[in-house]
Amino acid sequence: VVTGAVGLISLTPILGCEPDNLNELPKSTDPQPLRIPTSISGGNIAASYGPAQVWPGPMTPALLLNGFFLGPTIKISKGAGFTSQFVNQLGEPSNIHWHGLNVPPEMDGHPMDSVTSGSIQYTFPVLNRAGTYWYHAHPDMLTGKQAYSGFAGFFIIQDQEELALQLPNGDFDIPLLIQDKRTSASSSRIDYTPNSNDIISGFLGNEVFVNGTPNAYLEVKRQAYRLRLLNGSNARVYKIAFDDNRAFSLIATDGGLLDRPYPVESVLLSPGERVEIIVSFEGDIAGKSLRLVSQEFQVAGSHAGAEFQQGQPLNILELRVLNSESVTYSLPTSLSNIEQLNQADAVREKVFPLTMDHSRSKNIHMIDGKVFDMHRSDYQIPFEELEIWEIQNEAEGMHSMHLHGTHFQVLERRFGPPMTPVDYGWKDTVLVNDNETVRIAVKFKDYRGRYMFHCHILEHEDDGMMINVDVI
Ligand code: C2O
Ligand code: CU
Ligand code: CU
Repeated sequence: VVTGAVGLISLTPILGCEPDNLNELPKSTDPQPLRIPTSISGGNIAASYGPAQVWPGPMTPALLLNGFFLGPTIKISKGAGFTSQFVNQLGEPSNIHWHGLNVPPEMDGHPMDSVTSGSIQYTFPVLNRAGTYWYHAHPDMLTGKQAYSGFAGFFIIQDQEELALQLPNGDFDIPLLIQDKRTSASSSRIDYTPNSNDIISGFLGNEVFVNGTPNAYLEVKRQAYRLRLLNGSNARVYKIAFDDNRAFSLIATDGGLLDRPYPVESVLLSPGERVEIIVSFEGDIAGKSLRLVSQEFQVAGSHAGAEFQQGQPLNILELRVLNSESVTYSLPTSLSNIEQLNQADAVREKVFPLTMDHSRSKNIHMIDGKVFDMHRSDYQIPFEELEIWEIQNEAEGMHSMHLHGTHFQVLERRFGPPMTPVDYGWKDTVLVNDNETVRIAVKFKDYRGRYMFHCHILEHEDDGMMINVDVI
């Protein structure tokens, strides 16, 4: 009976469907081994709605990429050519954006370049340095729904500089795609029905999935690991830490390696951002269990009284220390050379206010006083000219600002907490706190054409907090 039901569920879109009693059976909340997506270097990526085995027990209606809940990890070397055919079987507009990659504008997954059926051919040279990038759907007003439902995966680039460092690799290099979901004990459904409050605060969940695994655990040996953390959540900011407050080293941010490792005890990671960390279990006793968590933090401008809160404490991943030989590891003291962009070399400065208009029922969020219109040119930046962009947050709460087509450097935070190592290096996404001003140095150096600048809180993006940026 259950098998037959699965076939029916696969025909049901995840949104806008009648409650399906077959998913309302209690599910198991037993710990599950962390799923590791398969690796590919290109080829087909087919998207469809269908049932996924998310929890043991009843299936969950989800968005599948090549049949799996969450997409394969693309692993490729800098300098290689990447080719992929995206096959859209969703029955609604979709496309793929390669987040953090400098690709030609027509390959960038602009909402204009979506299809409702059929396929899109993506071909581009891999120009970026080694790092943890990712991909996700980017259609107009459906990005939140599709990314939440499973349209996301890693895009990992390797290069010679990074390989020469001999960082922990293979089984000791683990990608962690972190997403919060709204779940309930009595159902195997994952809810995505944002109401008007969710559009203001962003859609927050009560349970964290890692690589699509709820209640995930990972068995680790008594040695050092490289963890690649991607905040693939729609709206949640995590204060990443271990529950025993152990120190770890931040070695990379959005655009790859930092100049050197930075020892930290926690990292604030906003939607779209990535960090790579080195953490060692060499001193832990066999059988110990610890947790990667999101620690509690205070957010001004968050909606008190809401059921789901930005800043609430959450479990992310349990780590179970195996009975293995303890292996010591020492990190290289220097990792890479980062060319520092210099404020004095900037050709011009541009202010981008983030605002909200509460008199409206939709299209509340704006950048530079505008709601997204995919056909309008909003800002023009000359190719290879350095500009300072000043992002001024007047739109209550946190916003995670993301730029396509290049990487920038964070220069300064004003009216808020000081910069931390997650702001260092080459960035494509930056957290802008309530009432804060963040100054970034921006230069496009690979292609001319239309890119975008938007909030990566996906309900804000879908609400229109996005502008076109034309590189001229
Ligand atoms: Cu990851 Cu335009 O987004
Ligand atoms: Cu992007
Ligand atoms: Cu926002």
